Amino acid sequence: MQKSNILIHKDSEKLVESFTRYFMDLLNKTVGSMNVALSGGSTPKIWFDHLAKKHKEDIDWDRVQIYWGDERCVPPSDNESNYGMTKKYLLDHINIPVQNVRRILGELKPDVAAKKYSHVLSKNLSGKSFPIFDLVVLGMGDDGHTASIFPHQIDLWKNERYCVVATHPITGQQRISLSGSVINAACSIAFLVTGINKAEKVMEILNIAEGAEKYPASLVRKSDNVFWFLDKLAASRL
Ligand code: 6PG
Repeated sequence: MQKSNILIHKDSEKLVESFTRYFMDLLNKTVGSMNVALSGGSTPKIWFDHLAKKHKEDIDWDRVQIYWGDERCVPPSDNESNYGMTKKYLLDHINIPVQNVRRILGELKPDVAAKKYSHVLSKNLSGKSFPIFDLVVLGMGDDGHTASIFPHQIDLWKNERYCVVATHPITGQQRISLSGSVINAACSIAFLVTGINKAEKVMEILNIAEGAEKYPASLVRKSDNVFWFLDKLAASRL
């Protein structure tokens, strides 16, 4: 991973400001719509709040097509819903056409939700072998998971389906996740990672330490268009 792709920030506020500049720059470079897969988690929540407060007007939301990289198998009204969190912190505060937002139907039976979302992706995104996002936004868990692919189910990463049904290792909660093939097919990928509890995995993954391959986040391709937006705490072991 080139050092230039590892962007270290004083704190989460500076991180989301920097990522917003990256996002706006990418949108400006995109002809027509930009297809973005969002992540759940606490860091994206800070980003959504920043967008809602500071960037209602200066982002052409008509050209942003919103998808999710993963979703919990719960209804959209559930506190656990990634869509519900995004709606609360971002979607309810910006003028984005309702047809631009394509949520994963977490309220359905997991295998049905996964199949339906795979169909949504193939219908709306181009790509010969896999649907291609312009941007996939990812978080990373303390255990090195990303999207909703966890170390204990790392084989889901290379599943040939576009969307897979995963299970949280501790809660047993079922989740729908993009497979690694779709994530790695994206034109650009951005990790948003904050907090001291991520520092060890960040170090292992970015330094390609022995054994790091057991972490799904390490399987995200290494390329010029993969960026790690870190705060100082998450980067403290680099
Ligand atoms: C989710 C996310 C998940 C998240 C990581 C990191 O549905 O929870 O997609 O993969 O990105 O768990 O979450 P934090 O940013 O809250 O640490």
